[in-house]
Amino acid sequence: MKKLPLLGDLTPAQFLRDYWHKKPLLIRQAIPGFKPLIKFDKLAEMAALNHVESRLITQTDGHWQMQHGPLSALPPRSQPGWTMLVQGANLFDQGADALLRQFRFVPDVRLDDLMISFATDGGGVGPHFDSYDVFLLQAHGRRRWRIGAQKDLSLVEDMPLKILRNFHPSEEFVLEPGDMLYLPPHYAHDGVAEGDCMTYSIGFRSPSFQELGEAFLQFMADAIELPGRYADPDLEVAKHPAEIPRRLLDTVAEELNKVRWDAEDVTIFLGEHLSEPKHNVFFTGPAKPLTMGRFTDSAAKRGLVLSLKTQMLYRGKHVFINGESFAVGRADKVVLDVLANERRLDGAAMAQASQDVLEALYTWYQDGWIELA
Ligand code: SIN
Ligand code: CO
Repeated sequence: MKKLPLLGDLTPAQFLRDYWHKKPLLIRQAIPGFKPLIKFDKLAEMAALNHVESRLITQTDGHWQMQHGPLSALPPRSQPGWTMLVQGANLFDQGADALLRQFRFVPDVRLDDLMISFATDGGGVGPHFDSYDVFLLQAHGRRRWRIGAQKDLSLVEDMPLKILRNFHPSEEFVLEPGDMLYLPPHYAHDGVAEGDCMTYSIGFRSPSFQELGEAFLQFMADAIELPGRYADPDLEVAKHPAEIPRRLLDTVAEELNKVRWDAEDVTIFLGEHLSEPKHNVFFTGPAKPLTMGRFTDSAAKRGLVLSLKTQMLYRGKHVFINGESFAVGRADKVVLDVLANERRLDGAAMAQASQDVLEALYTWYQDGWIELA
């Protein structure tokens, strides 16, 4: 595989083998001449919206304060020591989406979002660790990072944000625009702005087994079939009426043991769960949708693109989009796999689509999941 400019001298395979989940990597000029994709005013506007996840962090005399968005007012830019964090910039900005998608040497299910932070001089979120891998791309101004592989990850108590009690950095770098620092999970770090600065965090997603287990049981609730009902034709007189009868316990245990699942159930569950939009993601369809006929004609000329908010995945014959799953035939799958991988479908590919696929595409268009290119 060829080198990605993003990873300096490394191919994605080399990066994954030697650094991913293992050790930090500083890449000077990962994106030479990088310019911020979103101006401060636009970022502040986004942070003021209900459906955008944002935080404002300020530090005074070693005391941290955190305010969750929507952020209707920000401290003046002349005031040092504050940070605004805006999650999911990729959901509302084409350029931010394109940047996140440069990291698609990691599968879509592992990509989370692009978070943008703006800080005034001295601002930061304090020494901490994250549970996920992260690439920290310097977008504007300078930030001094201090990092360390410490084992002691104990936190200061009663703080609104995670602050390491004992931070022992072993390395220090000042990042300039275009420089990027990769950190594996649980690596201690602290980034402090030197003058105004913006940092983009490319974040990854690794669901906990507990989260998956709980969601899987909910999924299975819709799938299980346990016909019949408890009966006790040979019931004997209850000596202790409040005690649950042994026979009832044994029978129920036996019935519950009949709940089974196979790889197919796990596939469908995972695809639906991992393509489910986040709680703050809402889709808006076109104000005046075209008719099915006009939509098909236009799509055959212009092609289609997935909405920035759409998560489309597949495995085997199963296709998943925004929490829904479909089992599709081989020919339809060819078309839908292209749409999922390329996140677009050109007019020529549309011509291969069956009536079933065209109808699904039309519904997704009406729902705002896909758009005419
Ligand atoms: C920041 O951009 O200020 C914080 C990013 C991080 O430390 O994870
Ligand atoms: Co962090």
